[in-house]
Parts: sequence; C-alpha cells; structure tokens
Amino acid sequence: MCGIVGAIANRNVVPVLVEGLNRLEYRGYDSAGIAVINAADEVRRVRRTGRVAEMAGAAEQEGLTADIGIGHTRWATHGGVTESNAHPHVSFGELALVHNGIIENHEEQRAKLTAQGYVFESQTDTEVIAHLVHSYQKQGMDLLHAVQHAVKELHGAFAIAVISKKEPNRLIAARMGCPLLIGLGENENFIASDVSAILQATRRVIFLEEGDTAEVTREGVVVFDDNDQVIEREVHVSDVSLSSLELGPYKHFMQKEIHEQPRAVADTIEAVVDNNGFGPELFGDGAEEVFANIDRVKILACGTSYYAGLTAKYWIESIADLTCDVEIASEYRYRKVVADPRQLVVTISQSGETLDTMEALKYAKSLGQEQTLSICNVPESAIPRASKLVYYTRAGAEIGVASTKAFTTQLVALFTLACTLAKVKGNLTPEEELGYLEDLRQLPGSVQHALNIEPQIAAWAEKFAPKENALFLGRGVHYPIALEGALKLKEISYIHAEAYPAGELKHGPLALVDESMPVVVIAPNDRLLEKVKSNIQEVRARGGEMFVFADLDSNFTESDHVHVIRAPRHTGVLSPIVHTIPVQLLAYHVSLARGTDVDKPRNLAKAVTVE
Ligand code: M6R
Repeated sequence: MCGIVGAIANRNVVPVLVEGLNRLEYRGYDSAGIAVINAADEVRRVRRTGRVAEMAGAAEQEGLTADIGIGHTRWATHGGVTESNAHPHVSFGELALVHNGIIENHEEQRAKLTAQGYVFESQTDTEVIAHLVHSYQKQGMDLLHAVQHAVKELHGAFAIAVISKKEPNRLIAARMGCPLLIGLGENENFIASDVSAILQATRRVIFLEEGDTAEVTREGVVVFDDNDQVIEREVHVSDVSLSSLELGPYKHFMQKEIHEQPRAVADTIEAVVDNNGFGPELFGDGAEEVFANIDRVKILACGTSYYAGLTAKYWIESIADLTCDVEIASEYRYRKVVADPRQLVVTISQSGETLDTMEALKYAKSLGQEQTLSICNVPESAIPRASKLVYYTRAGAEIGVASTKAFTTQLVALFTLACTLAKVKGNLTPEEELGYLEDLRQLPGSVQHALNIEPQIAAWAEKFAPKENALFLGRGVHYPIALEGALKLKEISYIHAEAYPAGELKHGPLALVDESMPVVVIAPNDRLLEKVKSNIQEVRARGGEMFVFADLDSNFTESDHVHVIRAPRHTGVLSPIVHTIPVQLLAYHVSLARGTDVDKPRNLAKAVTVE
C-alpha cells in the first residue's frame, strides 16, 4: 500500500527519494510524488498517476534538486486515482506532507478548516492534516509543535512526514497505527515506511513507536513519545539484504521467490535443526510457561496467511492433540467472542503490518487473552512487537504481491509449533520427535525436487490460459493448499477460481462442471486418496478436464482429459508444503501466458494497512 520516504542531507536528495520510491513500488500503488524545499526556500512538487518512473522523469525535466524532501507512493482510498489526490499535499505553498493510513474524522476536520478559509484541492483525508499543521504554524508554533498538536486531533491510523519552507533544515515525522522508521546516516538522515526504501543509504534504523513524533535534521534525530517528552529509542541494524530486493537473473520477483523456497525453508528450520529438537525456547523468552498454561489454540490471519493457519489446524490437532480454531482476522475483530485465557492466540502475517490482523490481536488482548504468539517474516514489525512470543520465518524480503516463500515458511513455523506444543504437553515420543525432525531436514531437498517439474507445469499453463474459471480440489490437510492454489491463480491471472474439499463437490459445485471447466486436484498418496479418486470420477463423468498433482505411486491413469504430474518424492506429514510448489508455479505460468502484471496485480497491495 502507500509508501513514504524522506531525506535531509548535504547532497541532492531527489535521486535518494526516487530510488526509495522505486524500492517501495512492490507494496502496490497507483500514483507517486515528491516535494522538496529548493535552494530558494520554495516548496516544489512533482506528482503523477502511474509509475514512479514517469514521475521521476517529470522531476528530472523540471530540474528538481534539493537537500531536503519527501516522497510517496499512493494506493487510492479516499478519492480516485488522480494527480490532485496524489501526495505530497501542500498547504498554502508553504508546507508539504505525505501520509500513510486513514484519518477517520477527516470530514469534521475538513469542515472546520474550510470555515477557517482553507481551500481543498483534493478529495483525500490527507489534505486535512497538511492544512491542520499549517493552521497551527499560523498561530505561531514551530513545525514540530504544530505537528504534535495536529496529530492529537486525528482519529485513525497514520504515518506522516512533513517539510516546511519556513524551517528548511528539518523533517518532522509522526506515527500512530502505521509503521514509520528513521534511517541514520553520516550528516544525513532519512524517514521511511519500510526499510527497503533507504537501504541504499543506511542500515541503521530507529523504529518509531505508537504516538511518537521525531525531529530529523542533518546532524541528528530527536524522538518524542506520545506525551511529547524526549525519549531514547533503540538503534537497530537491518539485516534485509539488498540482493533480496533485486531481480537477479529472474523475470519476476514471484518467479525468484518461488525458486528461493529451498533456501527459505532451510533458513527457517535452521534453529530447530541446530537445537536438535523442538523446544519452547524457539518461540522466545517465557514460551515454556505460556505453552504449559494453554490448552487450545486460536489462529487469526488474512489471505494466504489464513490458509497457512487452516493447514496448521490439522497439525496442531493431530500432533499436539489440542483444539485449534482458525479465523479470518477481519471477521474476528468485529464479533463478540468468548474470551478464554487458556487459549494461545496465534497471529500469522508475512508483513507484520496487516491492519485487520493487528486489530484482531488488539481485540483479543483487550478481552484478556494475554497468551499471544506472532508468526511473521518482518523483524520488528508491528504485529510481533505487540505479541508476547514470536517466531520469525526467514524467507527474506518478499516483493511479489502474491505470497509464495512466505507461505511455505509459515507452514514450516506452524509445523514446528505443533511439534513443540505436542512435546510440552507430553504428546510427542522421542521416536516421533526424531521422525519429524528428519522430515524437516529432508524438506529443502523435496521442495527443490518439486521445483524441477516446472517445465511440465508450464505446458499445462498453456491449456489454462484461455479459461475464465477453474476449480481446485483437495482433501484433509491438502484442502487449504487447494484454497491457496485458487487464490494464487485469481490474484495474478485474474481467472476466477474456487477451491472445495473434494467431498463437497456433489453438494453444489458439481453443477458448474462441463467440458470448459479445468479442475485441479491435489491428490497425494495419503489415506484419503481413494476418496479423492472417486471425486475425480464424478468430475470426469461431467466432462471436466482434470489436472492432478499426485505422488509417485498414487496410481492414476492418464488420458486425454486426465493430466497427471507426480511429485518426485514422498514427504509424509509435510506433503502440504511440497504440494504448494506446483500450484504456485501453475499460477505463475498462467499469468505469464495471459500477459498480466505478475508482481503487481491490479487493485492489490503487498501490505494491507487499511480496512
Ligand atoms: O502480510 P500478511 O501475511 O498479513 O498478508 C495477508 C494477506 O493480505 C496476503 O496473504 C494476501 O492474501 C496475499 N496477496 C496473498 O498472495
């Protein structure tokens, strides 16, 4: 979603801002802009709908140079995709501001500011913040105090960066509900919503806390807490690698990230393997006590992360013998729930920023559910910081909007959780522990083998590309993988796809099946295989074309209408992870064949920080 970058230096910061916005592109956006204070102490601004490159070209044409500036990528919420709605927003030509998040009381503020003589040029909620800060400056406050006063009047979520021509030697930042960090350089400092935007300049960062404001000058940074008192915040050194933000030899980030999975999985299991067993310490300080004091699990997540949770339910119930409920975070947060202090609340989020998941966590905590664990891919992001325990997946930065390596590493983390809970509860024998550990050790190799079937899947994709609908079927622990396959296909190829537990077909969806309906079946050789085969017959009898992902010895007969790809290895209990690879590859190659924008599918954003 929206992205922020800001810089103050002894050099021209326009290239820094442009590079930062390029790095933020992956989050999803539909317009971009920068504003600077130039040598003549004027606010100059360039905005464009469309790509950052167009905006950067316009900035170059206009000869924009400055040693202080802010930039933004906007994903439209309030107001359409127009240049006048693009950020930065300017008040009276004096002050420029960028904003991530949503201001809920913007209408009330707009009315108040209009009455004071402010004229609005956009339909955004953001413009009210620019005018509000300006109105306090007009009353004689300096920029820092004007921002500190203004943000106290805002309801909703925000991260903002502000510059003013009256004070051309400082940037002011503030956050509440949306991430924002400060990057520390040598006689230059930065602001960003995401560390990737400033990695080219520095790795040393301060994460602002809820309610913080910050004054950023060339010489240093002063952070203030929500009572406007100076506060020390820890300096972190980011370990996000620049190479994870580069395409390398790949055509798309999604392709790169699919192929990174053997490494991502190996990195994520490293701690378990090094530990030579499952142990609560893998989940952080105090985990042993937390796990000993819970007797059920609630998982909250959205999208692909929710499907990881659905898969985990099978493992947690069958391995740990604990009841596990999985719920979509955006639903949970708005219903009356029965609080249970003996429930472990697990949130799953690749980004650690998803607003619905964060709000669901806050809601659970407000009901007295204190035992919380976050499974997350982004260190120091908001959701793990609000959780008691954390398990970081080590997928590395995921840039493609369609989540791939984050999902498989979430599954690894959740499998580890199931085994650890089983051990703490006395439900795991030493032999079982050794067996599961060995399964995990074999996993990176099995994922690599699954990647080797890519050419066969690319050939299937040609048959899929002209279709407008598809069905995905799975049973048991592979049903969530069917859901994930359908979501991947929808997201990036725009083919309408639905997933069902195969046994559910005859209760309705079978009516959709005819010769034009491709049906993808995930059919590993497990105890439900014979049931799945019967379900396949039901589809064949209605003329549907079957695309079956099976195991080595699943014993399927191929025909003109039944295409089978066999996984090159057995992977037992971890089979859902390995069977994810073919559905990812299928979505990727269908998208290629249809010519859609693989990494930036229409209407979607990488981190969903709004409702
Ligand atoms: O960052 P999160 O894991 O919390 O994101 C949740 C969903 O928005 C995300 O998984 C989304 O469904 C992806 N685009 C799926 O590919």
